Amino acid sequence: MNPTTEKKVFMETFGCQSNVLESDHVSSLLVKDHFSFTNEINDADVILFNTCSIRAHAEDKVFSRLGQLGEWKKQKEGRVVGVMGCMATSYKDQLLERAPHLDMVVGPDQYLKVPQVIREASQTGKSQVLADFDPIYFPENDVNRLSQPHKAFIEIMKGCDKFCTFCVVPFTRGREISRPSEDIVFETQKLAQAGVKEVMLLGQNVNSYGLGLKSRGKTITFSELLREVARVKGIERVRFMTSHPLDLPDDLVEVMASESSVCESIHLPVQCGSDRILKRMSRKYTVEHYLERVQKLRSSIKDLFMTTDLIVGFPGETDEDFQGTMDLLEQIRYDAVYSFKYSPRIGTVAARMLDQVPEEVKDERLARLNELAWKHAAQACETRLGKVEEVLVDGPADKTPGGFYGKSRQNRTVVFLGDGYRTGDMVKVKIDRHKVANLYGTVQS
Ligand code: 5AD
Ligand code: SF4
Repeated sequence: MNPTTEKKVFMETFGCQSNVLESDHVSSLLVKDHFSFTNEINDADVILFNTCSIRAHAEDKVFSRLGQLGEWKKQKEGRVVGVMGCMATSYKDQLLERAPHLDMVVGPDQYLKVPQVIREASQTGKSQVLADFDPIYFPENDVNRLSQPHKAFIEIMKGCDKFCTFCVVPFTRGREISRPSEDIVFETQKLAQAGVKEVMLLGQNVNSYGLGLKSRGKTITFSELLREVARVKGIERVRFMTSHPLDLPDDLVEVMASESSVCESIHLPVQCGSDRILKRMSRKYTVEHYLERVQKLRSSIKDLFMTTDLIVGFPGETDEDFQGTMDLLEQIRYDAVYSFKYSPRIGTVAARMLDQVPEEVKDERLARLNELAWKHAAQACETRLGKVEEVLVDGPADKTPGGFYGKSRQNRTVVFLGDGYRTGDMVKVKIDRHKVANLYGTVQS
């Protein structure tokens, strides 16, 4: 009998879509290696946390979970606890000091080794730390074990060379590396043949894709890659995330506007609405540049769904700087805003700045910002009333008996009543109402 036949894994994922993609990838490697999965910690032989270092809060949750597992390990021989993801590369061996019962620390470029490392840890009881970067390795979807039959993430680049002063990503994910375009297009074709209709191209800075990459002797830009992926037969929707406002040339906007499978949706983090703070953040653009790019996008792409990331309470942020962010929000009126309190990260430039903003000021600014952002989001939902949305069905709706849900091209959740729909169906739905950010409607025959 294979020694891992009866090993059950409990995996918890924190952080961004890259982590979600990579957890799926590791799960698929483990299943291939005869592991199985459980949602019950007490039933599990292996616990894996795929972690995020972006804010202290995300790390604290993991440290607290790890703290609780000493007892769990003692209850059954051969049990294994592992940390994957960004905390593995930010802390490496130090994690073993903080959580002595930890058996394995595996960084994002070492995931192919996870099944073997678990087996070794279970048999020998020795801890291992594998956190080196590997420029060649990119996780790939296994078309025989897709976590969803109709949608997939594809990692097209990794790491980041921008070094924003608040951000830990260049340290946790390393220098920016683009995946060869032929591999990306080939993976897209395989996914399409397996029935996938929507792909999301993922990376920390997707639109700087291709910088320094020679592919078949030529350099390829993100705009060119996006067009190639958009034209793969069978792919009906393409999305991409995350984009940097600096790398948003007109030709990318033109590809978004002209390729029918590229969805009307962009996540374009602005971070704040004050030039003074943008400079301290080392974002290398001004509010004026950002507004000009938004204007270009909106005038070229009808019904563009725009979301952003905002940080409040960056060191030195005054009331006036914060007012700049509120004014920017008023001007742009995003469909959704992901807002964060600034969290000092070890090793970053901003963490060493002396004028840190008190926690209560951050709280107050965050609450004001969220109130405005929610008002805009609700108003943006209202503009969809009476419109017919093309919905890619995800499955039966949990809270609406007899209902199904899916996503519109803008990536809004749409709920509708009906019979016999299947995941992956494309359905036209006329929107009658909205609740918070979700749309509700009636199928059009
Ligand atoms: N503190 C708060 N938010 C942060 N982000 C990145 N680093 C920090 C930090 N130190 C936010 C940014 C980024 C998003 C992924 O997380 O807004 O775009
Ligand atoms: Fe978190 Fe960034 Fe790592 Fe994603 S890449 S898990 S957001 S620190």
